[in-house]
Amino acid sequence: MDAQGVHIETHPREGEPVFSAGRPDPCTLVLFGATGDLAERKLFPALFELARSGLLPEHFAIVAFSRSKLEDASFREHVKEGLQKFSRTQPLDEAAWKRFADTIETASGGYDDPEAFKRLAQKLQDIAKRHKTEGNQLYYMATPASTFPQIIKSLADADLLKREEQPGQKPWHRLIIEKPFGHDLESAKKLNKELGAVLDEKQIFRIDHYLGKETVQNILVFRFANAIFEPLWNRQHIDHVEITASEAIGVEGRGGFYDETGVIRDMVQNHLLQVLALCAMEPPVSFAAEDIRDEKNKVFRALRPVEGEEVAQHVVVGQYEGYQDETGVKKGSRTPTYVAMKMNIDSWRWQGVPFYLRAGKNLKKRLTEVSIHFKSVPIGLFSGGGASCQRLQPNVLTLRIQPHEGIALSFESKIPGEDVNIGGVTMDMDYAESFKKPVPEAYERLLLDCMRGNATLFARQDSVEQAWGYITPILQALETEAGGKVHTYAKGSKGPDAADALPAKNGRRWSAL
Ligand code: BG6
Repeated sequence: MDAQGVHIETHPREGEPVFSAGRPDPCTLVLFGATGDLAERKLFPALFELARSGLLPEHFAIVAFSRSKLEDASFREHVKEGLQKFSRTQPLDEAAWKRFADTIETASGGYDDPEAFKRLAQKLQDIAKRHKTEGNQLYYMATPASTFPQIIKSLADADLLKREEQPGQKPWHRLIIEKPFGHDLESAKKLNKELGAVLDEKQIFRIDHYLGKETVQNILVFRFANAIFEPLWNRQHIDHVEITASEAIGVEGRGGFYDETGVIRDMVQNHLLQVLALCAMEPPVSFAAEDIRDEKNKVFRALRPVEGEEVAQHVVVGQYEGYQDETGVKKGSRTPTYVAMKMNIDSWRWQGVPFYLRAGKNLKKRLTEVSIHFKSVPIGLFSGGGASCQRLQPNVLTLRIQPHEGIALSFESKIPGEDVNIGGVTMDMDYAESFKKPVPEAYERLLLDCMRGNATLFARQDSVEQAWGYITPILQALETEAGGKVHTYAKGSKGPDAADALPAKNGRRWSAL
């Protein structure tokens, strides 16, 4: 029984993985930006967890590449220290660490130094023999976006990145590109063109770690593996949809990067638009990568553009107090750390159903969720009852992405007693409670999928450009007076009060944070 008295039974069908593709091909992963924050906090912990669980290829090696000189032994020590802080299984499994440490080697040099890439080529040949990795190479770009073109060029010049001419060609070369993918539509197109000159689209894996989150993947399972929700999933029954990504942390030492990026590029253009697409897309004809990506892309194409003076009517931005004192942030910066937006999807299914998105840093709490607000009942059948009957609350289905991953449905119920009194209750499914196993980190799934050549959870060229096509005019307006004011909000608050006006215009309000 949960707190509100609703009992949920789980029937996991163990041992029947539906889309498991087994162990990936042998390969070497070359990690650019190996000494960076992402590598330490996310990538090494994810790789270690895969190694520990026996999910990495049987023959596997990592080359940690950095501009600063690295030594194998001291770098391994640095990785170990990171794992002791960030690995999701603690204390560190020493036997697994020893095996994993043996797969890590280092390489260094300037991204524009042909000699460094010749040395890398030599090392990769050598590793292919020693570790039997068969020449399959996966390059992970965990570096600032400005370095991508140079690294790609240097890899191609050193013959380390070969275009796939036929499907299934071996050895394979793949590239994982971290976000932000470009800065606006123009730069994203330029980067796509540079990549396309060297690689086939199937070799390019544009990562968006939200797509690797179990709860985000579950949006499709929830919608399309159950028959009862889909008939309600449209403008006839849904009043509005809310997508919230609220963070309790600030820019955390990334002030320089963040000040150039801002919340719209950092969270909306990628993570939140991907979540929106999964919630709004039509059923795909199959679960194959291209079929899912095609449907998501149709959602992006149907987004109603918001430009010029309309931006101030649809978008509210804010900046937390003290942001300009963060290291790396310019005084007088207008970079938003909070955004609230009203979006419309001009499709048969969603006409007239607004999608409200909000994201921000230094807010009251960490909470990422999608709330589907259903329409009110058509007539007040119980309006003759007690006061509680006058205030019936529409049903809300909440997909909790994090924390407390789960799904909840609120509905009205008779309060026991002689009179007719009505109260709200919630049916609540909690992932951890239901399946009694830890939820893997997004990067684990995404790294594994890339090694398997499965691009379903990665963004395709056209959808990245569609998303930028929608976002760029908003960013441009926000840089001028047309975009309106950047509101200040207190740290630990729900964000600027001005954001309340967006849903309030149509008699709605944000769910409480
Ligand atoms: C990253 C952003 O992509 O996502 C960060 O660059 C943000 O600014 C992070 O904090 C949020 O991810 P998560 O998984 O903690 O919701």
